[in-house]
Order: sequence, then structure tokens, then C-alpha cells
Amino acid sequence: MEKKALLYEGKAKKVYMTDEENKLIVSYKDDATAFNGAKKGVIEAKGIVNNRLSNYFMKMLETKGIPTHFIEELNDRETVVEKVTIIPLEVIVRNFAAGSLSKRLGLEEGTRLNKTVLEYSYKNDELGDPMINDYHIFALDIATKEELDMIEAYAFRINEALTAHLEEVNIELIDFKVEFGKTSKGQIILADEISPDTCRFWDAITNKKLDKDRFRRNLGDVEDAYQEVMNRLLVHDN
Ligand code: C5P
Repeated sequence: MEKKALLYEGKAKKVYMTDEENKLIVSYKDDATAFNGAKKGVIEAKGIVNNRLSNYFMKMLETKGIPTHFIEELNDRETVVEKVTIIPLEVIVRNFAAGSLSKRLGLEEGTRLNKTVLEYSYKNDELGDPMINDYHIFALDIATKEELDMIEAYAFRINEALTAHLEEVNIELIDFKVEFGKTSKGQIILADEISPDTCRFWDAITNKKLDKDRFRRNLGDVEDAYQEVMNRLLVHDN
């Protein structure tokens, strides 16, 4: 397969066309941003970790019946994925209070939630990705009721599969964000990435943060934390 024109460059990834219809190449960068681009930096080898980890999670989720955009890992930083039209929603699932939920509801970080919380944000940089509910989603024609039901069901199944898998390597899944896309045939599949950039991972014993909060909050040891997640999962499987 041949890499063709750059289709899109985001904060953490570049996406290229290929000579095959409906296939794209994603290339993961080391660039890191937080607070809607207000904080910028580089996390050494982050692109490699996120590429490998995201592919690892997507392959695992496929075995649990979740359709994903993953096709083939090409090298350390590049992966072939199915072309989709991204549904402009950040689908956030929370098992424990942290981040914006802790702030909004005054809950101490790490408080276990009595019920898993599902939230949606409207993916829009200019508006700062505002939180929306299903009424807004239908009013803005972002998804139909049937599509949103499917997205919700997938989000909860992804949570169950990831939580169980991560528990085996002593990582607590605090919360995460996923994005879905629609294929040329109209199927809704998991897209974007699942990585320490998009999830909160805490060491189950020490509660050490092993995710992007180390960058957002200047906690240090950022690179080590990303490597640690990858080592635990990839070594665990070998
Ligand atoms: O900041 P907040 O607490 O709302 O984040 C919830 C989860 O969603 C975290 O795991 C965070 O990493 C992820 N997230 C993301 N991209 C965003 C906002 C949040 O991956 N733009």
C-alpha cells in the first residue's frame, strides 16, 4: 500500500490518504496538547506507545465483538485504518470521579461512582468541546436515536472489556474518551484512539497516575508512565 496526500493533521496524529479506497494511514506524533491547545509540549516516544497501545486495545475489543477501524499496524508509529466519517462526539465513560467531573460536582478524585457515568461532548474546538445531552445531539442532527443507542451500548461494553483487561495488570480504569465513525456502508465503528492520552489509568495499588494527567498537571515522569502502561500490557501477553 502506498501513502498518499496528507488528509488531516490533528494535535496528536496525521492522517494520510492511500492508494486504496476506504483505507487511511494514521501516523502518531509525540506532540502533546492540553486544555484545548492552551498547553503544548512533547512527550518523547508517545507516538510509538499510543500507536501500539491503541492497536492492542482495538484488537482486544474486536475479539469482544466491538467493530473498530483497525486494519494493520505498519510500523512503530503508523497504522492502516478504515476510512470513516467521524461522528463529532466525545463519548466519555467514568467509573471514578476525576478531572472535570470532580470539579463540576465537587467530588474528590478517586471517589468510586455508584453508577457508571456516560457523558457526551460536542467535538468543536471553537466552542471548547461543550458537554451536551441526547436532546442536543438530536436537535443538531449529530446522530439518530438508533445510532446513539448503539454508541451508548458500545461505550459500556468497551468499558467492561477494558476495565477487566486492565485489572489483570493492576491498572484501574478511572475514565476514558472514545470516538465513533461511520463507514462508507453506514456502519458505526470505534475510531480514533485508546491510549494514555485519552484514558485515566491509575496504578491499582499506589494510585499513581499513568496517563496524560502527568503532562496536564506537570507531575513529571510522563514518558515513564506511558512506557509503564505499555510494558505491563504487552509483557503481560507474551
Ligand atoms: O477532562 P475530563 O475529566 O472531562 O476527561 C475525561 C476523560 O476523557 C479523561 O480520560 C480524558 O483523558 C479524556 N478526554 C480526552 N479528550 C478530551 C477530553 C477528555 O481524551 N478532549
